Amino acid sequence: MVKVLVIGSGGREHAMVRKLAQDQKRSGRSLELFAAPGNPGIEALATCVAIGAEDVQGLLHFAKSEGIDLTVVGPEAPLAMGIVDLFEAEGLRIFGPNQKAAQIEASKAFTRNIAELAGVPSPAYRVFTDHDEALLYLHSLAGPWVIKADGLAAGKGVTVTDDLLEAETALAQIMKDKAFGEAGNQVVIEEFLQGEEISVLALVDESGFQLFPAIQDHKQVGEGDTGPNTGGMGTFSPVPVATKGVMDKVRDEIFGRMTRQLKAQGISYRGVLFAGLMIKEEQPYLIEFNVRFGDPETQVGLELLETDLLLAMEAVLDDRISEVSLDFSSDAAVCVVLAAGGYPGSYHKGDPITGLDELSGAYALHAGTAKNPAGQMVTNGGRVLGVVARGATLDEARAQAYHAIEGINFKGKIYRRDIGARHRGVIS
Ligand code: AMP
Ligand code: GLY
Repeated sequence: MVKVLVIGSGGREHAMVRKLAQDQKRSGRSLELFAAPGNPGIEALATCVAIGAEDVQGLLHFAKSEGIDLTVVGPEAPLAMGIVDLFEAEGLRIFGPNQKAAQIEASKAFTRNIAELAGVPSPAYRVFTDHDEALLYLHSLAGPWVIKADGLAAGKGVTVTDDLLEAETALAQIMKDKAFGEAGNQVVIEEFLQGEEISVLALVDESGFQLFPAIQDHKQVGEGDTGPNTGGMGTFSPVPVATKGVMDKVRDEIFGRMTRQLKAQGISYRGVLFAGLMIKEEQPYLIEFNVRFGDPETQVGLELLETDLLLAMEAVLDDRISEVSLDFSSDAAVCVVLAAGGYPGSYHKGDPITGLDELSGAYALHAGTAKNPAGQMVTNGGRVLGVVARGATLDEARAQAYHAIEGINFKGKIYRRDIGARHRGVIS
């Protein structure tokens, strides 16, 4: 019996727990699954314990007292807080990068600097600690302008705009008003890149890395990529722009160069490294690195992953990932997010959700749900559910997902009807 603890409470963590539960049926290896804090969807597959993802001492205490064999970290915050260092110092196995390596997500300036030394194709950039100097530089550039708070800002620290006033305001909010606290001690101003964005996840250890297929996220809340940015309204794979030629460059010029540079700087990396890339004329450029599985990229990536997830993560912990092949289905998969009306602004919580038990041809991963005192499933977040389906083609996967979505209802349900549709006619 292997005891596995997954830290986190969103759709990404539900996808991980689901994959672990499914793999054990195939492998015959018996797992006991825990999640902290988990969510009502995860509850059906794992024991949920009421410890927050950022209560690293509480998590350590639980892992020790329960005899957890492997802990898997979902979100970035505990990684940036050094949960991996803490667990490893106590002799516990934990999947994710250590605190030093987690800086790759926690500081954009740190990462731009390493990527530059590595020769990773990137936009031109400059880092500022002084508002007036930053403003002067901003005025020397032609728009559109890209302004980023250096640190973690819950996805809100980046402004991309062709309105100079908006750019100036963003800069002042970050550096003068400290809208993101210490995350705004430094600011990165960088060249605007036009192109198509893809997400590439990789399992990385000291021996090398293995890539997932490219996944595309739809970040804006409205159909046709309109309205404000969100945490992600839906994902799909395969992505037509990620040709073999592009993916060869992603392997060699992005991940190959970056992992070599990390080693040269004495930063040991074990876990998921997730690259947000802009593809422009068949050339990938680095937008950002994250140090964890993406959400909702994971929902699609794990649907297509055929390799046993636990075995793959154990390989990373033992520095054997270069000897393991990650196998993926040649099917297409899609994840459509159902959100609460108003998201990403303010939205209502506590609305009953119906139809979850009658899904066919697709399944729902919980992101922002709760059970009310009457035991009813209700909405409890901006992104409520992610509906995942697969098919031989993207159109088939889309048809399955959208058919299932018709049967799931809650007050104010919003979703994009064009997830994976950007390339209709190109695929299939
Ligand atoms: P980040 O948090 O760094 O991924 O930035 C959030 C979003 O802003 C990205 O997903 C891109 O859509 C956009 N973005 C960031 N940097 C750039 C850039 N240099 N050029 C164009 N768009 C960008
Ligand atoms: N979907 C983007 C992220 O997980 O950061």
